[in-house]
Amino acid sequence: MSQPALVAPLLSKDYLSVLDLSRTELEHVIALAAAMKRDRAAGRMGNQPLAGRHVALLFEKPSLRTRTTFMIAVRELGGDTVELPAGDAFGGREALADVARNLERWVSGVVVRTFGHARLAEFAAAAERLHVINALTDEEHPCQALADMLTLSERWGSLSSRTLTYVGDGNNVALSLAQAGVMLGLHVRVASPPGFALPASVVDACRRAAAPGASLELVADPAEAVDGADAVYTDVWTSMGQEQEASARNAAFGTYQVNEALMARARPGALFMHCLPAHRGQEVTDAVIDSPTSVVFDQAENRLHTQKALVALLMG
Ligand code: CP
Ligand code: NVA
Repeated sequence: MSQPALVAPLLSKDYLSVLDLSRTELEHVIALAAAMKRDRAAGRMGNQPLAGRHVALLFEKPSLRTRTTFMIAVRELGGDTVELPAGDAFGGREALADVARNLERWVSGVVVRTFGHARLAEFAAAAERLHVINALTDEEHPCQALADMLTLSERWGSLSSRTLTYVGDGNNVALSLAQAGVMLGLHVRVASPPGFALPASVVDACRRAAAPGASLELVADPAEAVDGADAVYTDVWTSMGQEQEASARNAAFGTYQVNEALMARARPGALFMHCLPAHRGQEVTDAVIDSPTSVVFDQAENRLHTQKALVALLMG
């Protein structure tokens, strides 16, 4: 099957949040990614909408998957990447807005991994022609959610009436997952210890964005949250930038480990998901992450296809 046409560019200049996309746009990104994945597997690399264009990568935190897959995605679309030393651009040498206004004279887009989401929004707002993609902030990880939705649709087709349970920290990954999940019709349950739940404002925004019949529920007890779930997702207890809190977090999250006993509460054959990197033996056991229903490397692979579709639609 050939790729859906790139006729409907995204309305938003930037992709800072899943909520920058309409439901139709989100579905379109996933459908285009699926087609690009099939074409790539068949050796058909498609057209090169980024030919002669550049995309800058600016990472203030470590990355394996996101950096690698954006580099490959841009190159496979015919463009080239430039890696910016984070300290030179975001290190306070000049105003963030001036950095953005310089970059828009040279490159079509910037993929940014940084700390506070507000800084990213300020950067994106400063340059009206520069496309900015959120490669993870403290608050959101919208590119991860695209890959997660493609992974689930490959397994299930339609997502509506399926239940996805996220167990652990109400962090950047949980937020973007909840947004994308409810937009595509999932019942999303999030189980977090007291003090680590998704903020109420996030829950309200998800409920407003939800497809008819979708839901978001916060649950305290992980076993109750996993009961009958079609997929169980977790992430690290201590995210990048929170290393000082690690011992307090290990204590708080001790009963939120995804292990075989917890997975036994889910539907038979329930999928296990993780954005990676995983801390084996903490938030997930080897037996679960290495089990036949674990789709963690499909998620990692799908980072490439979904980001390729996103870049093509945003900048192509
Ligand atoms: N899942 C993810 O974003 O991985 P990296 O931190 O390696 O990019
Ligand atoms: N929540 C994790 C995700 C890493 C991909 C972090 O922010 O470190």
